[in-house]
Amino acid sequence: MSRVAYVNGNYLPHSQATVHIEDRGYQFADAVYEVWSVFDGRLGDLDGHMTRLHRSLTELKIPIPMTKQALKRVLDETIRRNRVTNGILYLQVSRGTAPRDHAFPIDTPPSVVVTAKRIDLRKGEALAAKGAAGVTRPDIRWGRCDIKTVGLLPNVLAKQAAREAGAYECLMYDEMGLVTEGSSTNAWIVDENGKLRTRDTQANILRGVTRTQLLAMIAEEGVELDERPFSVEEAKRAREVFVTASSTFVMPLVSLDGTRIGDGKPGPIATRLRERYIDDTRRDAI
Ligand code: PDD
Repeated sequence: MSRVAYVNGNYLPHSQATVHIEDRGYQFADAVYEVWSVFDGRLGDLDGHMTRLHRSLTELKIPIPMTKQALKRVLDETIRRNRVTNGILYLQVSRGTAPRDHAFPIDTPPSVVVTAKRIDLRKGEALAAKGAAGVTRPDIRWGRCDIKTVGLLPNVLAKQAAREAGAYECLMYDEMGLVTEGSSTNAWIVDENGKLRTRDTQANILRGVTRTQLLAMIAEEGVELDERPFSVEEAKRAREVFVTASSTFVMPLVSLDGTRIGDGKPGPIATRLRERYIDDTRRDAI
């Protein structure tokens, strides 16, 4: 029997059940989900999952897509159409489809997807009777910011914080108060002693292509660079602060949390590097 999925108001065969390529779940992991057990065609702990779903949506400020009663009808109908007696029901709610931009889209309805799968309870019983094996690994959720993954939900929340504060970018810092990077950029300062600084690239930040290009330019320009982390306080006292990315080039930040940086105008180093980055990249574009 072919499986049926619920997608935004329609029940569709799995092969035709799709969301848009700019669905934010797909592009940013900007989505939440629940998995229910299904026993004898009925949902296990309906309220426990509904409560957590509501909480997850509220925490991420994703609009509640429908009432609990309406959602229950969709869940039941998906079970019925898939003739699931024992199995699991999967629900995913994303922030919806919108042109790619880290910050939340305005007036965008969430995407709702529900799928159901049959499970042969006897298999689980057989394994449980025998017992199962386990392994251990360090918990790296998510310590691998060097990988350019689409798991960008923390970045989305940081960018949204910037937007809500009327700012362009949010610099993120670690547990030591040291700036890691921007929500979608690498971060730099010209410190109070005039030294250009940016964090070294380890697992905790993305090795920006723009950053790498800039390192070469900086060496050519004869500007001294210190690849060393800087604190939020150092950034606020810095002569210049700027961020870099392929989409942003070199963007001076003239305030941080409302504190004016330098004289409140783009500084000479950021201005020079921006010009040079644009000129060189345009010239060498192939
Ligand atoms: N972002 N750090 C993060 C977290 C980024 O998402 C990006 C780029 C950078 C800069 O990388 P590059 O110089 O290679 O563009 C650093 C892109 C532009 C984006 O997500 O839209």
